[in-house]
Amino acid sequence: MNNSLKGKTVVITGSGRSIGREMAIRIAAEGASVALLEINKENLEEVRSTIAAAGGDVRAYEIDLGSESQIIETISKVEKDFGKIDCLINNAMVHEAEDLLNTTLDVWNKSIQITLTAAFLCIRQALPAMIKRKNGNIINIGTVNAKAMIGSDSYSAAKAGVHALTRTVAVRYGVDGIRCNTIVPGTIATAAWQARVDRNPNVFEDLKPWYPLGRVGTPNDIADAAIFLISENSQWISGSELVVDGGLLAGYAPMFRTVEGSD
Ligand SMILES: NC(=O)c1ccc[n+]([C@@H]2O[C@H](COP(=O)([O-])OP(=O)(O)OC[C@H]3O[C@@H](n4cnc5c(N)ncnc54)[C@H](O)[C@@H]3O)[C@@H](O)[C@H]2O)c1
Repeated sequence: MNNSLKGKTVVITGSGRSIGREMAIRIAAEGASVALLEINKENLEEVRSTIAAAGGDVRAYEIDLGSESQIIETISKVEKDFGKIDCLINNAMVHEAEDLLNTTLDVWNKSIQITLTAAFLCIRQALPAMIKRKNGNIINIGTVNAKAMIGSDSYSAAKAGVHALTRTVAVRYGVDGIRCNTIVPGTIATAAWQARVDRNPNVFEDLKPWYPLGRVGTPNDIADAAIFLISENSQWISGSELVVDGGLLAGYAPMFRTVEGSD
């Protein structure tokens, strides 16, 4: 157990598996108190007990982020239980890979509801106490899909909204001591990919050529970025997009050699 985040309370939505789980475990190991918000009861309990067994300070909150009243109630309960929220990480999402023509209104609405609206509602509920304390930190988990067309159409549109939400919060409430940033992950091998792995078991291998650093990402890569943004080492960073993508967005890796004629 380290103490780099000791004294901070961090709320993480969608922390029952994958990136949210890894962030929760790593942030707790840095000494922060962690509030887990998750719809899947079994996964929620698994993460809570893993952190508690390692000596971490953790509480679990079962929640459907599709419900405004549950968000209001839960964020208020976290504030009461821990006394304050230093950092809110909006990580939960639903992902549908359909193209636009095959996207039903239900799929579109659910994407917006869980990926974008829930982030807005969590921020709206957590901000007033942060503003009162003149100190708050919000981290939104975005995606490279919000920066370039890489499929998953309704998800990408919702995430582009999340990126805009970051800029709004950073600029409007910076004067109140609030920092807000977006972490922009590239492909991270998580359970969210299971349907695509079932269709193509080699999908992560096939994606490698696009990544200048020669691999897809891990939840740990994103946890490293989150710990940096929560820490005292990022106090003048706000409104930024911390791209954690192995170099993907910097260029067109499989293309440049062909352009140069060296392929
Ligand atoms: N995996 C990737 O390749 C990748 C790439 C870029 C960005 N991201 C972003 O990283 C974040 C985490 O992705 P992941 O791969 O860990 O996803 P995941 O699907 O494995 O985890 C998402 C979690 O959110 C929870 N959740 C979903 N709906 C909920 C609801 N209504 N209420 C409460 N919890 C709910 C799920 O139960 C799950 O535990 C997301 O914001 C995602 O957009 C992931």
